[in-house]
Parts: sequence; structure tokens; C-alpha cells
Amino acid sequence: GKVAVLLGGRSAEREISLKSGAAVLEALLSEGVDAYPFDPAHQPMETLQQQGFNRAFIALHGRYGEDGSVQGALELMGLPYTGSGVLASALAMDKWRTKLIWQAVGISTPRYLIIDAQSDFDEVAAYLDLPLIIKPAREGSTIGLSKIESKKDFSNAYQLAAQHDSIVLAEQFIEGKELTAAILGETPLPLVRIEVTGELYDYHAKYVANDTRYFCPSGLPDELSRQLQAQALQAHRILGCAGWSRVDLILDKNDQPYFLETNTSPGMTDHSLVPMAAKVAGIPFEELVVKILALSYV
Ligand code: DAL
Ligand code: MG
Repeated sequence: GKVAVLLGGRSAEREISLKSGAAVLEALLSEGVDAYPFDPAHQPMETLQQQGFNRAFIALHGRYGEDGSVQGALELMGLPYTGSGVLASALAMDKWRTKLIWQAVGISTPRYLIIDAQSDFDEVAAYLDLPLIIKPAREGSTIGLSKIESKKDFSNAYQLAAQHDSIVLAEQFIEGKELTAAILGETPLPLVRIEVTGELYDYHAKYVANDTRYFCPSGLPDELSRQLQAQALQAHRILGCAGWSRVDLILDKNDQPYFLETNTSPGMTDHSLVPMAAKVAGIPFEELVVKILALSYV
């Protein structure tokens, strides 16, 4: 069949998606798949059918791509697509609702408060301690996210996050090892550990910096790795995710994990983590992409 690689789109992560989509497209073509790029920012979704596409690889990130909306459009057209369905995509996009569900089943996640323009810094800081993280609930790639150390940065951090979403989270900052667990089908891939030179694994450290270090295997003891992988799979399942995802977490100095979020359409750029983990599991990039396509949701 003819495969549309959905890329670009209208979210703040458009530039990343263009890179993910280009890499996915190249991999599919090299595997002999009849694939074409399709950017929903330039073409209405409903033309997919007229153009004879019968499957979609979603390489969109963020709003209108990773949040259930594109998934809903594809459902209406009856086109199978990669990754999670409508509900899981919408839930995973929303870090607040993700936390509510994870807390209900005992998956540990950093303490948080939903804040607004009237929130009192002293109350927020008393509950979460300093430093703390301010971020939009439904955004990706740490866009709109700040780590703040004191009252003077609170209002700017809130306003920045509020530019991206009407729901803003203040979250406890967990000092520790930054880890990610890719899930492929029902199998967790080897954990990746990230070491940044700056303060945070932020947009710059993710996509620009050349001094961010990645460890896969992660260097953690095997038993601990297995436990974290099992919890990551549970975190993916309880949101109803399917096909593939990437679960991000921090491991504090007492080896207590704190799950941050699940990405239902993880980055596939040359700096991205799922391809790194797959490679260590013996799955080259081209094979990874073909597997994700084969797992498409119908
Ligand atoms: N939101 C970015 C693309 C990621 O999770 O990889
Ligand atoms: Mg994310």
C-alpha cells in the first residue's frame, strides 16, 4: 500500500517533526515501502484518501499530531496509523491527566500544583521546594519550560508556560539521573541515560548541543534496569498507549524513580533516543521504522 509519512504540522515542535519525518521517510524508502511525505500544515487531511494513501506513519510531535486530533481524523477516514489511538494520545499529551492516572495506580511522579496568574509563589515553593519546574501541561521538547530558583523568576516562568497552554504545572524538581525507556510493541528497549553539561535536558541540550552524553546501556544494575523497564511498560499500558512510545523518568539518589511523561510520537531525529535504544537492542533504524509501521493501529 501507499504510506503517508505525516510530518511538520502546526505545533511548536514543527522543526523537530520535519527532521523525524525526513528520517522515517528515508528509512521506509530504503526498505522498499511506497512512502511519501505529507505535511498537514500545507495539505488538508481529507485529501489523504483522494491521493490513494492507505496507511499513515505519524511523525508529528505535539499539538495536532501527537494529541489525538490527527488520530481522530484518521479513524474517521478508516486509515490505519502508527502509535497510540485517540484517547491514549490525548492523555499522554496532557502531563496533568497523565499524573492523575499514574498516581491512581501507584506509579511515582513528581509532586505538582496547577498554577495560574494568581498563584502565590510562597505557597507553591513551600509545597514543592526550590528549585522547581514550571511548564505547560501539553507541550513537548521542553518548550515553555523553566527551572526556577527564586521568587523573582516565578512570574516570567509562568507567563512563558502560559503562552503555550492554558494549563500550567509547577512541579517538584528531582535531582538525579535522567533516563528514558522506549517501548516497542509490548517490549521495553534498553534504558538510555542522559548526561547534560548544563542545568537541564532542555531544547538546546536535546537538539543543538554536541556535548550532551548518552549512555545505552545505561550503566545501572541489571535488576534495577529491569524494574524500571517494567514500570515504564506499566506507565505506557495504563494510559492505553499502543505500538510504541517513550517514557521519560528521573531516578533520584536513593534509586527512587519519578516518571515524568510518556511521548506517544517520540523524536526520530539523529539525536533521538528511541533509535539509540533500538540500535543497542540489535534493531537498526530502518528495521525499527518498518516494525513501528507494521504495528499500526487499525
Ligand atoms: N517531543 C519530542 C519530539 C520527543 O519526545 O522526542
Ligand atoms: Mg515530551
